Amino acid sequence: MFETLKTKVEEIILDVDLNSTEKMQRICQILSDGINYYDWVGFYFKNGDKRELKLGPYVGEPTDHTIIPFGKGICGQVAESNQNFVVPDVHAQDNYIACSLTVKSEIVVPLFKNGENIGQIDIDSNTPDPFTDADERFLEWVNARVAQIL
Ligand code: SME
Repeated sequence: MFETLKTKVEEIILDVDLNSTEKMQRICQILSDGINYYDWVGFYFKNGDKRELKLGPYVGEPTDHTIIPFGKGICGQVAESNQNFVVPDVHAQDNYIACSLTVKSEIVVPLFKNGENIGQIDIDSNTPDPFTDADERFLEWVNARVAQIL
């Protein structure tokens, strides 16, 4: 499953007719279509010099949380920790920003450019506890690839 998706992501990355925003948009779509427990897929990026994240390309229900201060929610915590954050049960988290009542679990993986944490990929799932090490490795790979087009 992940190997097939990697091939598709690679094709998008190399598509000379798409700009980087369009590429990220297509990657969100490929991931959301390809993995049944990826229900909302999006990128957040550091908003200029501000200590906040701004929503970038995404696929899924529109969210009110287009700006997330550092430290707030799972995304804001990853902006500060520089570490993957896997949440098997979002209801067990105190520092969590709910985007949709159907979401059960979440994974956020930071995106590094030249060693700097400049953003992240965020996946929400309506399935409880679906994420494994394979998801983490795959999303790290996606982010490393995306970093090369930014
Ligand atoms: N749940 C996230 C907020 C972003 S939405 O999932 C799209 C959080 O706690 O940071």
